[in-house]
Amino acid sequence: MQKLLTWIDDRFPLTKMFEEHLSKYYAPKNFNFWYFFGSLALLVLVIQIISGIFLTMHYKPDGATAFASVEYIMRDVPYGWLIRYMHSTGATAFFVVVYLHMFRGLLYGSYKQPRELIWLFGMLIYLVLMAEAFMGYLLPWGQMSYWGAQVIISLFGALPFIGEPLTLWIRGDFVVSDATLNRFFALHVIALPIVLLGLVVAHILALHEVGSNNPDGVEIKKNKDPVTHLPVDGIPFHPYYSVKDILGVAVFLIFFATIMFFMPEGGGYMLEHANFIPSDPLKTPEHIAPVWYFTPFYAILRAVPDKLAGVLAMGAAIVVLFLLPWLDRCKVKSIRYRGNIFKYNLAAFVVAFVVLGWLGMQPATPFLTLLAQFFSLVYFGFFVVLFVTSKNEPTKPVPERVT
Ligand code: HEM
Repeated sequence: MQKLLTWIDDRFPLTKMFEEHLSKYYAPKNFNFWYFFGSLALLVLVIQIISGIFLTMHYKPDGATAFASVEYIMRDVPYGWLIRYMHSTGATAFFVVVYLHMFRGLLYGSYKQPRELIWLFGMLIYLVLMAEAFMGYLLPWGQMSYWGAQVIISLFGALPFIGEPLTLWIRGDFVVSDATLNRFFALHVIALPIVLLGLVVAHILALHEVGSNNPDGVEIKKNKDPVTHLPVDGIPFHPYYSVKDILGVAVFLIFFATIMFFMPEGGGYMLEHANFIPSDPLKTPEHIAPVWYFTPFYAILRAVPDKLAGVLAMGAAIVVLFLLPWLDRCKVKSIRYRGNIFKYNLAAFVVAFVVLGWLGMQPATPFLTLLAQFFSLVYFGFFVVLFVTSKNEPTKPVPERVT
């Protein structure tokens, strides 16, 4: 084995890469629960790619046969139901894991200097992930696939001048049709996954360039052992965190398998009831709502009475997240040593995000619209309050070493 390894190492930096990114990558020794979600996101990415490849072997991207091909996968393809539920449960799991992963960033100020690029790559990943999920949802060609796409694509029509031609260009037709299905399939199975993989590599390279943050927000590279020159608060990622992450994977897979085997439709939240009816361009479903991971933004869109302003507000809700490293001007990274204003502000933001998520699933009544307007203000208010108060925020002293 050693001979083989030497042979490879003479021709390819295998051991060098293993050491640089795993066995000699020093990570802070105080990682907690919140640090499981990066590796879990990687796991879900792999699950989606593998299950997706097998789905593609049996799926037909054609307006006349797409719906039936999914039913064929569910009923006739050996273990087809398992592959499909793995992929649909994986979509929800991806967003759960990524939302928790992003929230960790907020808790510990992981987007702050020198990790701004990790955050920006992360936000690009999030955007591509949303596009990937949106396009994937059209493929089963059910009523919700069809009308969901119709509603969301038509939003672009609100843009001045370019709106109408743009929607036509996206759909490739005057309504969502076979042409739309074909291009969404191409983007979903090849174009966006390539971009996603590239961004994930960039995300991790940027992370390994500056090193991980941690729940104390202490820079471990600033405190190195004078003899070994290794961070005194660091431990090699492998074997310490590779083993710890396996525990996270095991627990995650218990939840994942439970949902996949026992409640794959997620009570209509993961696979919506209307999507078991083949798409019909002549029959609009009574109530159209996106899947849960889009609903906070959908609620913001509907909260604004003017269509263009609503689209802009929805866009702004995402764009503002990109700016977080510059909106938060506090010197202290971790919530552990930050002031109460930040804590209450973040709590309000989380409540607003969850409530907006719920509101986005409900039919819009005047009262619920009022609520959505209020919580949209709380959502944007988080960033305003953060920008205004963070510079002179009263903070606690940050310890020299991780606790
Ligand atoms: C496919 C999706 C993603 C994958 C596979 C991924 C992967 C990872 C991994 C493996 C880590 C190191 C382990 C950890 O800190 O948990 C990490 C760190 C990080 N990620 Fe992601 N990530 C993804 C999406 C995102 C998104 C959407 C954001 C934010 C917009 C983000 C922001 C960060 C930040 C700020 C760190 C550094 C955290 C710290 O050092 O405290 N990531 N990511």
